[in-house]
Amino acid sequence: MAETNRRILSGMRSTNPRLHLGNYEGALRNWVDLQNEGYDLFCMVADLHALTTMAENSGEVSRNAREIAKDYIAAGIDPAKSVVFIQSHVPEHSEAHVLLSMMTPLGWLERTPTYKEKQTDLGGAEREPYGLLGYPVLQTVDILLYKPYGVPVGRDQAPHLEIGNDIALRFNRITGKEVFAPYKYLIPEDENRAKLPGLDMRKMSKSYDNCIYLSDSEDETAEKLKSAFTTPTKLRKTDPGIPEGCAVCQYLRVYSPNWEAAWNEDRAGERGCMQSKKEATEAINEYLRPMRERRKELDGDAIEDILRDGAKRAREFAGATLAEMRAAMGMY
Ligand code: TRP
Repeated sequence: MAETNRRILSGMRSTNPRLHLGNYEGALRNWVDLQNEGYDLFCMVADLHALTTMAENSGEVSRNAREIAKDYIAAGIDPAKSVVFIQSHVPEHSEAHVLLSMMTPLGWLERTPTYKEKQTDLGGAEREPYGLLGYPVLQTVDILLYKPYGVPVGRDQAPHLEIGNDIALRFNRITGKEVFAPYKYLIPEDENRAKLPGLDMRKMSKSYDNCIYLSDSEDETAEKLKSAFTTPTKLRKTDPGIPEGCAVCQYLRVYSPNWEAAWNEDRAGERGCMQSKKEATEAINEYLRPMRERRKELDGDAIEDILRDGAKRAREFAGATLAEMRAAMGMY
């Protein structure tokens, strides 16, 4: 009987030291659920990918990577069940990247929407590192080395995953060996969660300074909620609100079981924004409480031990796949 593949791999870049609720709802929550359903999860911090925009701050990228690994674990990734590791601790990724970069058509990379955006942000070819163009190739390596059944990511990553499956097929065709099988994209279905807005109703993002971080304290969360965006024309309790456009009401919908009643009262001018803010704060703090407790247990060097063990387990798997790639290419 064929062995069922239950492996899942995903990662996030270490451009920031902290993950926010948007990162959690958009991707990480799905990883935790899959882990708890019994999938074998490889959970990576993509420090090399962070270097594509932060090579001048490489030390920061590496420090961030530790903090992100702590956020993974605080969010419910269990290092006894899942493999938590830092990308650059598994040098097989770099070697496999060179091999696949020789087989990836330049046109596929130049057409990637994320590349075009970054290119504009960075200000042209003289400021743009060569590594940025290869971003999807490195991401493909991250995935293929673990031969996963599926890759749980946010919707924005779909173009990279498509290139990945194309590169996998191309490798098989060029070498004449079936080394890689296509993997599935596992994208969260609950749109209200996946699109959880920032405090100002724009996309939650560090650059907008509108985030609720997984590691924020109860008081920090309460302070942030106080100045969150609500219906601008609702000045008094009796003014009607528009919950669809109000950040606090969006949080209630995701985190409070009584959100429907709250939305109706908001629309009817039967509740004030202060009350909604208070309830949303309580609901979010309750939601984050287990994460805060797990984070407290992670002090000291615990994370270094976890990452060392994770890199060892990842290298065993990645090393075997890399050997298979070299053999398929006839490289001795
Ligand atoms: N590009 C992903 C992001 O920005 C991070 C990433 C790197 C990744 N390697 C990966 C995601 C492999 C999934 C699989 O979020």
